Amino acid sequence: MGEQRYLEANDQLLSELDKIGQRKQLPSRGDISLASNDYLSLTHNPRLIAAAREELSRSGTGSGGSRLLAGNHPLNRELETAIAAFKRGPSALVFSTGYQANVSTLCAFGNLVDLFYSDELNHASLIDGLRLSRTETIIFPHNDIAWIERDLERRSAENNGPPRFMVVTESLFSMEGDQPPLPDLISLINQKDGLLLIDEAHATGTIGQSGRGGLESWGIEWDPDRLILTGTFSKALGGLGGFAVCHPDYRELLISKGRAFIYSTSLPPSVLASNIEAIRILEESSGIVQLLQARVRSIRSAIGLPLGDSPILPILAPEGRLLKFQETLLESGLWAPLIRPPTVPPGAERIRLSVTMGWEESWIQRVISVFGQEIRSSKNVP
Ligand SMILES: Cc1ncc(COP(=O)(O)O)c(C=O)c1O
Repeated sequence: MGEQRYLEANDQLLSELDKIGQRKQLPSRGDISLASNDYLSLTHNPRLIAAAREELSRSGTGSGGSRLLAGNHPLNRELETAIAAFKRGPSALVFSTGYQANVSTLCAFGNLVDLFYSDELNHASLIDGLRLSRTETIIFPHNDIAWIERDLERRSAENNGPPRFMVVTESLFSMEGDQPPLPDLISLINQKDGLLLIDEAHATGTIGQSGRGGLESWGIEWDPDRLILTGTFSKALGGLGGFAVCHPDYRELLISKGRAFIYSTSLPPSVLASNIEAIRILEESSGIVQLLQARVRSIRSAIGLPLGDSPILPILAPEGRLLKFQETLLESGLWAPLIRPPTVPPGAERIRLSVTMGWEESWIQRVISVFGQEIRSSKNVP
């Protein structure tokens, strides 16, 4: 056996990934990304910076441990109160990332349900949480609530009663930019006695009149017995960290059974402080959210996409065309990422743009001129 056998195997693996277009590369610095999730441009808001800076001087750079050991800084509780109030929910738990919030929450709920129904387009963090929960998981066709209903009816007939189940979805899908029919989902879980987990990573700060997310957007009231929201502070809220909003008793379950929560260091206090400030800004006024929504509507209309508040704009076309598209934008220093399988299904390759308040007028004009022409001649969703 040669000394280099692991590096050789590694080379082989990388070249196989290359061949099937799955070798990832980090983008080069310098180009302006049109894919930032900093929807409200809060990462550079002076109030967030001041809050973080002050707390940094007071509490230092790190938290020192997990929440259950040394890292339970009081700002965690303050942030939980703030995000629960913003989401109009009963209580909340803060995690170090949105990924961790999903993984922990699904692992914990795997102890309560017999099976999960997961939308086929759910984010990788939900998929990984479902895998780690070691609980039966059924993938359902995108937004097809009738499909879940039929499956539940068949199972109920076979087993003399409905299973204990949780439906897992997103309120604003990260790659499609569309929304599931939440009122139908709510009536399904009420009728069939299930639970519903909604990932609000992209919906928070972007949809609903004051940016509270999917429930506000559809005018749905909280049902603390059946509803669990997860999300992140790292997108529209301009910071870092994740959350779950749920009944206080479910919160207790997450603390005891969410392994990713238990065994990972908590957020630095400075990050907690800027997250709190971001929520304060949105509670004070919905103006910034409405500005984003107006901008989104005008760009959607100018490039011929269906109207709506979703800042996620998927441009679908054959890959060769998307590459040309990318090149044209790069001539102006604008970088639009190409999303390939396995992130999206084969044949659904796309350029995914996310509109933010940081887009300058000249970028908007450039995007409209390039995509406006393309869109008329390409297949597009949603
Ligand atoms: C739908 C969805 N859920 C969860 C996450 C994870 O959030 P975070 O980046 O805070 O780990 C993301 C972010 O990429 C996401 O798009």
